[in-house]
Amino acid sequence: MTRINTHGWIVGLAILAAAYGADSPLAGAAATKAAPPGAVPCQACHGAHGEGMATVNAPSIAGQAAHYIQKQLRDFASGARENLVMGGIAKSLSDADRAKVAAYYASLPVPAVAHGATPASAVAARGRQLAVEGVEAKHVQACNNCHGPEGSGVPLSAPYLAGQAASYLANQLKSWQRGTRKNDAGNLMTSVAARLDDTDIEAVTAYYASLGLTLP
Ligand code: HEC
Ligand code: HEC
Repeated sequence: MTRINTHGWIVGLAILAAAYGADSPLAGAAATKAAPPGAVPCQACHGAHGEGMATVNAPSIAGQAAHYIQKQLRDFASGARENLVMGGIAKSLSDADRAKVAAYYASLPVPAVAHGATPASAVAARGRQLAVEGVEAKHVQACNNCHGPEGSGVPLSAPYLAGQAASYLANQLKSWQRGTRKNDAGNLMTSVAARLDDTDIEAVTAYYASLGLTLP
């Protein structure tokens, strides 16, 4: 039974690859990776390996916890996390499809390349302070308390931040400030974001963007 299903998949991928055309980058990706068909359209924005694409503000989703990816897809669909593009895409997927694509992207290796340039030293120092130590005067605890060492993520708790584009991370913090992202259990991120000013946001997002990911 499993064999027949696997075979059906491969045939399905071959048909998909043919539909995209032999010289499309998607064709090559589909042929080498056993991406479930539902995960192929994501590659147009999130990259052939889920590594993200800063030019379209699409974050890296490779190696992010399956639980987290699936939750975001549900939140986009419900509008708890507002985004026009992802809202439409998430709504078009059944819960079973969401589970499948989440499991696939979670299984891919986290991109090891740093996206951002090393920030200027005063900015870097402030960013590192927020991430690693927190700022007591502002009642902001260290981001890494939840996001893991080096912002590398803690499955079932908080996503990795390291290596994501600074502009993406800053958008998220500002969405919590504005109330267009209100999908955080216990308002954890809403209360963190409310305590950050624009300088803090610039510093901490530049810091995480400058980190290369070396996950265990
Ligand atoms: C047309 C471009 C586009 C396509 C296609 C697309 N995405 Fe996205 N995706 C985005 C953008 C842009 C964001 C950032 C949204 C925001 O700023 O909140 C995003 C965000 C996400 C996030 C949130 C990641 C995080 O760290 O919180 C997940 C998960 C995600 N997409 C999964 C998918 C999956 C799975 C597919 C395919 C079924 C897909 N996306 C297809 C553009 C796209
Ligand atoms: C008490 C725990 C906690 C602390 C402290 C915390 N976070 Fe978070 N953070 C979370 C959780 C949980 C999520 C995922 C929310 C969801 O389900 O969408 C999150 C998500 C995020 C995201 C969205 C990531 C993405 O891929 O879309 C950003 C950006 C972020 N946090 C930045 C920060 C920064 C910067 C700090 C420190 C100033 C911080 N966080 C401190 C728990 C925390």
